[in-house]
Amino acid sequence: MTGILGNASLVLDSPDLIASDREKLEFVVTASERAADLTRQMLAYAGKGRYETRAVELSSLVRETADLMHTLLPKTVRVHTELADDLPWIEADPSQLQQVIMNLVINAGEAIGEPRSGTVSVHTRECTLGESDVAALDRGELAPGTYILLEVTDTGCGMTPEVLARIFDPFFTTKFTGRGLGLAAVLGIIKSHRGTIQVQTAVGQGSGFRVYLPATARAARPVSESAVPAPAADNVRVLVVDDEEVVRATTRAVLERRGLEALFAASGEEGLRLLTEHKDISVVLLDMMMPGMSGDEAFKRMREIRPDLPIIVSSGYGESQVMQYFLGSNVSAFIQKPYTSAALIQKIGGVVARSRAAV
Ligand SMILES: Nc1ncnc2c1ncn2[C@@H]1O[C@H](COP(=O)(O)OP(=O)(O)OP(=O)(O)O)[C@@H](O)[C@H]1O
Ligand SMILES: [Mg+2]
Repeated sequence: MTGILGNASLVLDSPDLIASDREKLEFVVTASERAADLTRQMLAYAGKGRYETRAVELSSLVRETADLMHTLLPKTVRVHTELADDLPWIEADPSQLQQVIMNLVINAGEAIGEPRSGTVSVHTRECTLGESDVAALDRGELAPGTYILLEVTDTGCGMTPEVLARIFDPFFTTKFTGRGLGLAAVLGIIKSHRGTIQVQTAVGQGSGFRVYLPATARAARPVSESAVPAPAADNVRVLVVDDEEVVRATTRAVLERRGLEALFAASGEEGLRLLTEHKDISVVLLDMMMPGMSGDEAFKRMREIRPDLPIIVSSGYGESQVMQYFLGSNVSAFIQKPYTSAALIQKIGGVVARSRAAV
């Protein structure tokens, strides 16, 4: 899918594309984004999709998601937000939390159902859970302490107790076009963030979903991912190690467009050879799954040659799974396939900036 998304977006960028082809290509992009989304929901449900946690402030994350909410909800649905300021941070994967927010909000909108009008409310606040609260909430699986509460309520159709009992089951749906994966993914993500979810509903009375996530300290404001500048093209030389031809070709086009110099290797062995020959390589993009020398083996050898070299590990598997192979070694960054050109450029920009700052 990296190959599909990457190449399609490259062609879409070209100025001499005729309108009818553009339309078809946009369809390719939409369809593959949907396929990627389906895969993400399934991985999230299986608890395998977690990658890249950092300090997240939930109210800001909801604000960043607001535009998306408005485009995905029918015009007849009003969104009401009440977001607490100065919330403690949570240690979380922001894109997975966005997935939670979006899945709950979309369900809420669907429960209201076009053309009826109604309101979806999104609240965030801090709450303290004592021994008796956690016992009541989650059969004692949670630890008492400070939690961040995300609440999504709707004025929609509500649920019968029979439906309520099954909503978190994968593939359970009452909708014609539903896949029944939304809430299964929500639950998987919340569990992997050591949180819990509560539902209140009655037929005709709407529904309310409450997500509790454990707070960490009130940390310094983390840099938002989009604030990371693209690397200055000067003096950045990327070594791309990937056995898949289509990934190499796509990445080549993306990097060249940004004026970044790159070298390409189709195997770990070749990557090592290039690294020894070219002392000016400033960052490596390394695929995990390769025949012959595996990604983690290549990683180890590369670090032996250049201990401070920034290495971005890429894989179709989620970060938590891949990182098991790298316990104790210092991976500079992880990027999950399929990635967009913007995501790749940002990753490279981030690690190059950090490695230069460290000098
Ligand atoms: N806010 C809500 N109000 C009423 N019913 C809901 C609400 N949220 C979920 N449900 C019920 O739970 C079922 C499962 O939800 P889930 O999000 O897992 O799947 P889906 O929405 O049917 O399909 P998908 O999200 O994969 O497109 C829904 O089909 C619906 O019956
Ligand atoms: Mg859903």
